[in-house]
Amino acid sequence: QAPAARPIGVFDSGIGGLSVLQALRHELPHEDFVYLADSGNAPYGDEKGEAFVQGRTLAIARWLRAQHGIKALVVACNTATAAAVEQLRATLPDLPAIGVEPALKPAAACSQTHHVGVLATRGTVGSARFQRLLEAHSAHTRFAVQACDGLARAIEQSTEEPLPATESATKIGALCAQYTGALGSFGLKTGDIDTLVLGCTHYVFAKDALRTLVGPEVQILDTGAAVARQTRRILAQAGALAHAETEPGQITLYTTGQLAALQAAAGRWLQLPARCCAALPSA
Ligand code: SIN
Repeated sequence: QAPAARPIGVFDSGIGGLSVLQALRHELPHEDFVYLADSGNAPYGDEKGEAFVQGRTLAIARWLRAQHGIKALVVACNTATAAAVEQLRATLPDLPAIGVEPALKPAAACSQTHHVGVLATRGTVGSARFQRLLEAHSAHTRFAVQACDGLARAIEQSTEEPLPATESATKIGALCAQYTGALGSFGLKTGDIDTLVLGCTHYVFAKDALRTLVGPEVQILDTGAAVARQTRRILAQAGALAHAETEPGQITLYTTGQLAALQAAAGRWLQLPARCCAALPSA
């Protein structure tokens, strides 16, 4: 099949990457997407470790290429990008791989108080890639960085049975309060944090709770739209964009966890026509 007609692969440790898929679909409406949620192994970022995340990323990339002939892979997971995107590019050099990166650069550019909060997983915060990014943008900006153990897991579990929705919302709210509280004060006064970076794609789904906690003046940044634009650029350079006169593309979702949970998450957050396919083995 010609590259233009092949789908784009998107993968995350779980449902967080649906926030990136939403932005991709907005930017590239004619593309087909195949999304894989590795929910059977989520979360990646609390205690799984780099070697495990590298192994899963490679296995999933190979599966998406063998089964679906993907023309590019969007690693819609900050923890997997930090741990594995360089190894992935070295191992599969003919597969364009686009990673997600906490938005420190745009945050440094737009913060008026020069004080930015960053929420991410322990795996992302502890990675060499994140430390390099932090150093590159710290000249005029103070970053308060908080590892949020348990938050991605709580968001992941919020779509799983049998936890009642109110109970999981309370748990997510309590974790958000704990971690934003640890960052310091928010607002537009000198010394306050005026910009909050969501360094994990799952956290986009806790944005309402975070907004309530940090107040209306604080900018909350995620990376979905920037990653979607970068994906367009890479496909355009390779001459692999879907033809604009084709029908809107199809979205197919797979999970290594509970199929019903992925369906619930897609229904709640994607608001797009998606085919949920199968549950896959998690190892
Ligand atoms: C996780 O699996 O721990 C969260 C994924 C992410 O970092 O985006």
